[in-house]
Amino acid sequence: MSGFAVVGQKKLNGFVNLHGAKNSVLPILAGTLVVEGVSVIHNCPQLSDVEAAVKILEHLGAQVERKGHTLTVDATYVEGCEIPDVLMREMRSSIVFLGAVIARRKGAVLSSPGGCELGPRPIDLHISALKDLGVSIDESGGVLDCRCFNGLKGTEITLSFPSVGATENIILAAVTAKGTTVIHNAAREPEISDLADFLNSAGANVQGAGSDRIEIKGVKALFSTEHTVIPDRIEAATYLCAAAVTGGKITLQNCVSGHLTPVLSTLKSAGCNIMVHNRNVTLIAPARLKRVPVIRTMPYPGFPTDAGSPMMALFSVAEGSSMFIENIFENRFRIVDELNRMGAKITTNGRVAVVEGVYNLSGANVECTDLRGGAALVVAALAAKGVTTIGKIEHINRGYENLVENLEALGADITRF
Ligand code: EPZ
Repeated sequence: MSGFAVVGQKKLNGFVNLHGAKNSVLPILAGTLVVEGVSVIHNCPQLSDVEAAVKILEHLGAQVERKGHTLTVDATYVEGCEIPDVLMREMRSSIVFLGAVIARRKGAVLSSPGGCELGPRPIDLHISALKDLGVSIDESGGVLDCRCFNGLKGTEITLSFPSVGATENIILAAVTAKGTTVIHNAAREPEISDLADFLNSAGANVQGAGSDRIEIKGVKALFSTEHTVIPDRIEAATYLCAAAVTGGKITLQNCVSGHLTPVLSTLKSAGCNIMVHNRNVTLIAPARLKRVPVIRTMPYPGFPTDAGSPMMALFSVAEGSSMFIENIFENRFRIVDELNRMGAKITTNGRVAVVEGVYNLSGANVECTDLRGGAALVVAALAAKGVTTIGKIEHINRGYENLVENLEALGADITRF
């Protein structure tokens, strides 16, 4: 089993250059299927989730070439419309390919994405929206058989929940539909705006991304383009937590602070000194972190659920108790048992977790339960007295590029085994 070994309580000091946002690259790679030409995507992180998306593109007939952090996708000759189970299971968020494949091929056959470590991942909002756009969907035998021979037709869609994935699927299906589509109660995440920017650079007409009302005027076709992905705000939050728990100082380069306001304000309330200068965000940690009474995760622009796990590790060594209320995913607290093995004092009840700050965590042998839970274990290990071994790091490799190398460069004692 491969893993990380960490000797904790080393102050982190230095600079980190953030990689491109995983949750932006994935829908953008789906969007390259709608472009009947070449899309050059810069600032593409080297992550296993991105590799899984590339496999899907190649399976459908696109040619993909990676040079460092630039992916060139030639989707001129895409014939396929089926994503096999093995590829769908490799990455749950492959559902975001559904809208793009239907837009390009007038149909799609995907196996229903299973749940994931965060709990059941329903796709009812995706399905009902695509049906509103004129797609007939047969969901039998764990397969989504989608057909739309008369082509997609623009319509008004109201989401009962501002689902990120559903918003992305609707945009991707609607960009070349006949007529106009309006999404009410759309997700407002920066990754939605980044997807819209990419599509508009290829000739689409998507207005209002970043607000809760998005209007997509269907165009005939999308043409070759080039796009640079926004920085990863959850990677940013993770490194800020890592520096904060070690009493260190860190500067994130190429960081959009406006994507992180709830995280930055929480860290300030915990006693950190935060300075923003253009795309540099600097954090100076206090000697001891202070509690924050309540952290409530919400859809953007609220506190991001993905930052909740590393932030929980941070508050497990703060002075006093903090309460987390998780409003997005059922199983976000799966990592709590592993944190408690390290001496954290976290009790959960449904979607509420109370974190009673302790003076020190102690090194232990722990295992990742999910991507951001793994990030929480790394933050906790950096704070802990002694040695921590972290197993099942394949979860971490899904969303963090060069984590060990970056932390070592900051002064952490961390090795891969
Ligand atoms: C995206 O997931 C992100 N993933 C998640 O990041 C992120 O936590 C989440 O948005 C919220 O910000 C990617 O972008 C690849 P949702 P997504 O649809 O699209 C329920 C990470 O760690 N729901 O907004 O799946 C759903 O069950 C990942 O990088 C329905 O009920 O999120 C969940 O409770 C984890 N029916 C809530 O909405 C639906 O049809 C939020 O889901 C769709 C969603």
